[in-house]
Amino acid sequence: MNLFPLVVCFAGSLAAAEAPIHVTVDTAVPGHVVSPLLHGIFFEDINYGADGGLYAELVQNRSFEHAEHLFAWGTVNRGGDGDVTIETAAPLNPRNPHYVRLTVRDPGKGFGIANDGFGGIAVKQGENYFLSVRMRANAGYAGDVNAALEDETGRVIASDCLGWAGPDWAPMEITLKAAVSALHARLVLVATAKGHVDLDVVSLFPEHTFKNRRNGVRADLAQMLADLHPAFLRFPGGCIVEGMDLPNRYQWKDTIGDIAERPQNWNRWQDAIRGQTAPQYYQTYGLGFLEYFQLCEDLSCEPLPILNCGMACQFQSKQTVPLKQLAPFLQDALDLIEFANGAVDTPWGAKRAALGHPAPFNLKMLGVGNEQWGETYFERYPVFYQAIKAKYPGLNIVTGAGPGVDAGDYDRWKLAWDKFKSGTPADIVDEHYYRPPQWFLENATRYDAQDRYGPRIFAGEFAAHDRGRRNNLRAAIAEAAFMTGLVRNSDAVAMSSYAPLFAKAGATQWTPDLIWFDNTRVYGSPSYYVQALFAKNRPDVALPVTVESAAPVEPAPAPPPATTDGKVPVPAGKPLPALFVVAGRDERTGELVLTVVNPFADPRTAEIELRGASGAGPNGRLTALASASADDENSFEAPRKIAPRDEVLQIPGATFPRTFPANSLSILRLRIRQ
Ligand code: AHR
Repeated sequence: MNLFPLVVCFAGSLAAAEAPIHVTVDTAVPGHVVSPLLHGIFFEDINYGADGGLYAELVQNRSFEHAEHLFAWGTVNRGGDGDVTIETAAPLNPRNPHYVRLTVRDPGKGFGIANDGFGGIAVKQGENYFLSVRMRANAGYAGDVNAALEDETGRVIASDCLGWAGPDWAPMEITLKAAVSALHARLVLVATAKGHVDLDVVSLFPEHTFKNRRNGVRADLAQMLADLHPAFLRFPGGCIVEGMDLPNRYQWKDTIGDIAERPQNWNRWQDAIRGQTAPQYYQTYGLGFLEYFQLCEDLSCEPLPILNCGMACQFQSKQTVPLKQLAPFLQDALDLIEFANGAVDTPWGAKRAALGHPAPFNLKMLGVGNEQWGETYFERYPVFYQAIKAKYPGLNIVTGAGPGVDAGDYDRWKLAWDKFKSGTPADIVDEHYYRPPQWFLENATRYDAQDRYGPRIFAGEFAAHDRGRRNNLRAAIAEAAFMTGLVRNSDAVAMSSYAPLFAKAGATQWTPDLIWFDNTRVYGSPSYYVQALFAKNRPDVALPVTVESAAPVEPAPAPPPATTDGKVPVPAGKPLPALFVVAGRDERTGELVLTVVNPFADPRTAEIELRGASGAGPNGRLTALASASADDENSFEAPRKIAPRDEVLQIPGATFPRTFPANSLSILRLRIRQ
């Protein structure tokens, strides 16, 4: 039970908008320590989040392993004659069995192939691009392979000779420097002599990635992540972990080492939930577990990998590994911990070192299963829990509680909690909620009565889904109101993360999302700024707050008649506080951090009393997120239409009035005088 629940007092019958609101913060009664891991990020390769997104690879279908093997590739024939075929004889390696063969009868001015990237290759003037290709040619091939970047008009904007390999597969590498910028360039590879040339793993990377890492991530997208100040990164999902069926599940061991040895998998988001399909959506695993751990280091956040527990998606194939055959799945988990943390003389620690990272990654938590539920899960999960704890007692296990917490998912969630209450061990329980904005308002008190002696909560996937699943301010502010409850209860709630993280414009399977991007641009949704503001202003210690209003607050507007995910809407009617408020102290700066959310359609004025303080020092700071309409959204054209605005505050005394705009999140940082 929270010692400082949000106290809401009502008296009288004035409309809330006219009634005085009194907010009291007890500045001299420090409460619980706010979880340092409270605000993190959830990454999944959905909406082209990895390949075509965060992973900076510019070539699509680089290993010719799509079911349509030449997808994104075309033939280039400059007055010659030849064939482009897909072959499998004597491949580069058995995990990457297909390659392309150029059979050149007459090269003309060049015969070969070109890749269009992910809807065009965007290049910047003056920047370097690293091209690498695995190649072989018939003995006696007496030509070269030339590489070029050409813009939409066919103009060459970078070119060089890649040379030619002998009759055995060999890596060939050159750097292409773009003479001009282009949005929709293509990569052209042409043979210049008669014979046959085999090509595989054609990869083009910008030199400039986040922290300039090879095989790295897009600098602009990763900077957006850094600006969220995440305490942790959960990866690689999501449903991706489960797979549509067991062969489709995510297997971390497939994602490390030479990119040519990482077998490509199809992406389960080819079959999106709402019937949209993306048949060319694949996982190269170029962004694999080493890269995820590395990204965590680069973002100074804790890694939280989630592993498959022997169960594929229970909404789809429902495939389950018999208990007797669970050993390899468990071994994958144990090996991952050793890969992350083991000394370099352990088998998996040695592999990490061989990949260039001898220092351990200091993994502290691991998820077992994603949205699993039912007895099937609770037969398998304890096997993992016991075995992992036996070997690594200090490691925290994240346990699934099913796909949701109410409506159609309630029974699954309840079974999980019945288990935890009756002896099934759990450290951190992963709860998910994709619900209408009103649900978030009505559930800001969700964890006020949470048992402080049981497992802690990970609000592992959440987002407010407004009508049409728009990324609007209404959804963002509802999330902010809910998050005041996460902070207030952060002795019980250890962690939280919005989901999904990324959306590539024109290529989404799921909305709303936190960050929108295309091949060159990126912007944060209003929800992005809510997450960033909460993380940046996470207090270290909670302070008690009461919100008194002279009138009961009218219920929030009714939710839409049906949510697009088919879930039952929450009935309207639960009274809400006049404002959603949480407070705490930043121990580093000594500031009082007061977070106030007004999700209503009218501005609200509150009298704020800093009990136990004689006043606040000069130059307090207010950061506010607001906009004229709750329907407002950000876009590529107006990326910061809804973005935090800062103001300097001079607070006259220990009690002062403040008006909070309609649909707003306000964070006050004050140096208080006791
Ligand atoms: O975030 C999108 C999906 O929602 C996740 O993959 C899954 O865990 C949840 O159902």
